[in-house]
Amino acid sequence: MKIAFIGTGYVGLVSGVMMSHLGHDVLCIDVDPNKIELLKQGKAPIFEPGLDEYIAKYANSDRLQFTCDYDDRLSDVECLFITVGTPPEENGSADLSGVFDCLASALKYINSGCVVAIKSTVPPGTCKTVANFIKSCGRINPVASNPEFLREGSAIIDFLEPDRVVIGTNDDLAFEIMRDVYKPLTDKNIKLVESDLNTSELIKYGSNTFLANKIAFINEMADLCEAVGADIDKFAQGIGLDHRIGSAFLKAGPGFGGSCFPKDILALQQLCQSVDSESLILNAVIKANDDRANKMLNKIKFASGKSLNKQKIAVLGLTYKAGTDDLRSSPAISLINNLTREGAIITAYDPEGMPNVPKYFKRLNCAESMYDAVKDADIIVIITEWPEFKEIDLSKVKKLARGDIFIDLRNILSRMEVNEAGFRYYSIGRKGD
Ligand code: UGA
Repeated sequence: MKIAFIGTGYVGLVSGVMMSHLGHDVLCIDVDPNKIELLKQGKAPIFEPGLDEYIAKYANSDRLQFTCDYDDRLSDVECLFITVGTPPEENGSADLSGVFDCLASALKYINSGCVVAIKSTVPPGTCKTVANFIKSCGRINPVASNPEFLREGSAIIDFLEPDRVVIGTNDDLAFEIMRDVYKPLTDKNIKLVESDLNTSELIKYGSNTFLANKIAFINEMADLCEAVGADIDKFAQGIGLDHRIGSAFLKAGPGFGGSCFPKDILALQQLCQSVDSESLILNAVIKANDDRANKMLNKIKFASGKSLNKQKIAVLGLTYKAGTDDLRSSPAISLINNLTREGAIITAYDPEGMPNVPKYFKRLNCAESMYDAVKDADIIVIITEWPEFKEIDLSKVKKLARGDIFIDLRNILSRMEVNEAGFRYYSIGRKGD
């Protein structure tokens, strides 16, 4: 099938490239000429494990084309995916202007049978508005909602082996075409959930909110474990083995971040308020996660036992999770800002995120390696669970550091090993914290 994607952010690029891998002929459009130039050279503009190889394999063949232009190449596409960003407005609601702007440009070229599939995360009701917009332009195109559930860092496998594909539409032709698009996956027994437009849109927000909920819950339970002398890892194992609860997304840490959870739960909160259906749970999750940065600061202050002013702190990890170069809404940002306000002198290191530092910090001293970062440090803080931090040579670190405080906000190290290297060890909700 011939399909097109407008927007080559994480979702659009990974989905577009992997659709070509599934056998479709894919045209990817983006307004950013630098990005398109890189892609034409067969290179990925983002760090996503495995993506480079697929781009290099298919780029510029009939299977995968990149362009900045809306033109006649769109005339025979059977499905046009919209995958542009829906960033938060000041009040938290999703800014949908990108969706309508790109659709207006594409409508001039697509034929009347082409399905307009909205993959961008949009609040319930948006696809219906899109359908009305298309009609108001004098065009006849069915609309489908087809939310994406891939995670940064594991996007390829999430695309190829999703737990489910969700398609929402009120149009039989759209269902038929969307089933064809996903046939290579459903042939491999991937489950398809078919619904109406509003339900499909809400499934996306509901999934992210439910997962954010789990994280906020486990983080609070970690605090409770510290208060009563229990152990969060065993606790998570103990509740997670109940299949009704499930063991995923029960890792306590410095709070959730990224480009999706914080934005989507705020957008859902706005939606709830606008339809007079306030969610008390949602309000609590947002507050609990916002409070996390202060709790982490207090943990570091407690460990230090004295003012943080002029103390040298090595921060290991800046990205909002491992496996990405993305710092958007990373807990590291608010924590570093808190530490800086206390007068601490920060040296940071991240394996992939450092090129993005200037977007989030006016000035942040970055080191070339984790060992450079810990030189003369009074306190070492792990914020992101990068595999290389799990392998850190603790005796080497002890020789390089000045102090003896090691704070592991992702519970990736063993207390015994860190203690044996001569550090005092603090983690999240584990025995001894
Ligand atoms: C999330 C969802 O997991 C995807 O299904 C969804 O498609 C995506 O948002 C999106 O809407 O585009 P992502 O933001 O890439 O994916 O990252 P996650 O792996 O979900 O992690 C989100 C945050 O939760 C990270 O800060 C991570 O460190 C934190 N987290 C995750 C925890 O603190 N504990 C956990 O147990 C799991």
